[in-house]
Amino acid sequence: MSNGQGTEYPPAASEAMSALGGEAQETLKGLLQFFETASQRQVGYPTNLDFDYSALLPFLQYAANNVGDPFHASNYASNSHEIEREVIHTFADMMRLPRDEAWGYVTSGGTEGNMYGLYMGRETFPDGVVYFSQDAHYSVVKILRLLKVRNIMIKSQPNGEIDYDDLHETIRINRDVPVIFMANIGTTMKGAIDDVTRVRAILDDLAVTSSYIHADAALSGMILPFVDDPQPYGFDVGFDSVSVSGHKMIGAPLPCGVALTRKQFVSRVARSIEYVGVLDTTLSGSRSAFGPLMLWYAIQRYGLDGFRELVTGSLGVAQYAVDRFNEAGIPAWRNRNSVTVVFPRPSDQVVRKWQIAPFQDIAHVIAMPHVTRELIDELVADVRNG
Ligand SMILES: Cc1ncc(COP(=O)(O)O)c(C=O)c1O
Repeated sequence: MSNGQGTEYPPAASEAMSALGGEAQETLKGLLQFFETASQRQVGYPTNLDFDYSALLPFLQYAANNVGDPFHASNYASNSHEIEREVIHTFADMMRLPRDEAWGYVTSGGTEGNMYGLYMGRETFPDGVVYFSQDAHYSVVKILRLLKVRNIMIKSQPNGEIDYDDLHETIRINRDVPVIFMANIGTTMKGAIDDVTRVRAILDDLAVTSSYIHADAALSGMILPFVDDPQPYGFDVGFDSVSVSGHKMIGAPLPCGVALTRKQFVSRVARSIEYVGVLDTTLSGSRSAFGPLMLWYAIQRYGLDGFRELVTGSLGVAQYAVDRFNEAGIPAWRNRNSVTVVFPRPSDQVVRKWQIAPFQDIAHVIAMPHVTRELIDELVADVRNG
């Protein structure tokens, strides 16, 4: 576990610290101590703290850089492109996209993957309209502004899923323009999943022939492939691109994620850049070589069976939390196949102590793999006692 290493500096790091003045050393030690304490009760954000990448520490000695397209050669030799391709292929398998049709790269996180997907959507249908729900992640509005694409926000249902009637009616009114649909595969606050099959049925009903579906599967993209009865997800039900966060369910000390799409869309934006000898298909230029390494390492360590165990454990803790809250008279609930447990907004003191993310009159606890039943018991007692 990341924070299981304690706050003591390992010998090699202590030696390196001697290059700094006393005050700077104290600053670093203080921050490390703070991280350690804060990690003890972090239950409100979807970041798995249970990881150990110390096998990769030697790679931090090198200025590795994954600039450019991981599926093409690069002049910058110290890269982890080969490993990145393996990661993309594993995610393609999970998202039911044949490997030979898949293209993707390891991003800096879920937001970059969403920007990539919506960029592909806009490049495919420059005069299209993006439809997204009220419960979409806050960054979506920013992305749409950056892309300068026409967009319409659709109402959500109380459980956080998109309101299909509102979607149907709104598309009906705009039937003459292509549809770019932003599907939430696990909303930020309520872990709700938009039913892509139903969205496709709406498009068929309205005889919409030009459409693109991007899926924001930041958290649930690493859950649905590992449950017995998942809601519809994947390229076989209509995704054209998907964004999954790496530092969420898998866990990582540096934010990362995966953007995945079909090769055919990427060729529209590809440009060859002589300076670095790469194909410029990614949003950022210089990219972390460490992100792919971490995801690859996690895939090797857990394998798909290991991920299934991780997810099953977290779903069990989530249901445990719902039951304990309800027994304490607190109306908590969760969406099916979600590790996000929603309950009424607690006192500010509880919010601070447990790093809970409140929104209006609700809050949530997210049962990531480091969240134990004991932590849930403590949290429920605190919420009950105000
Ligand atoms: C549904 C959803 N989409 C996108 C994001 C953004 O992901 P990131 O923080 O990795 O950029 C989040 C983050 O919590 C999220 O919950």
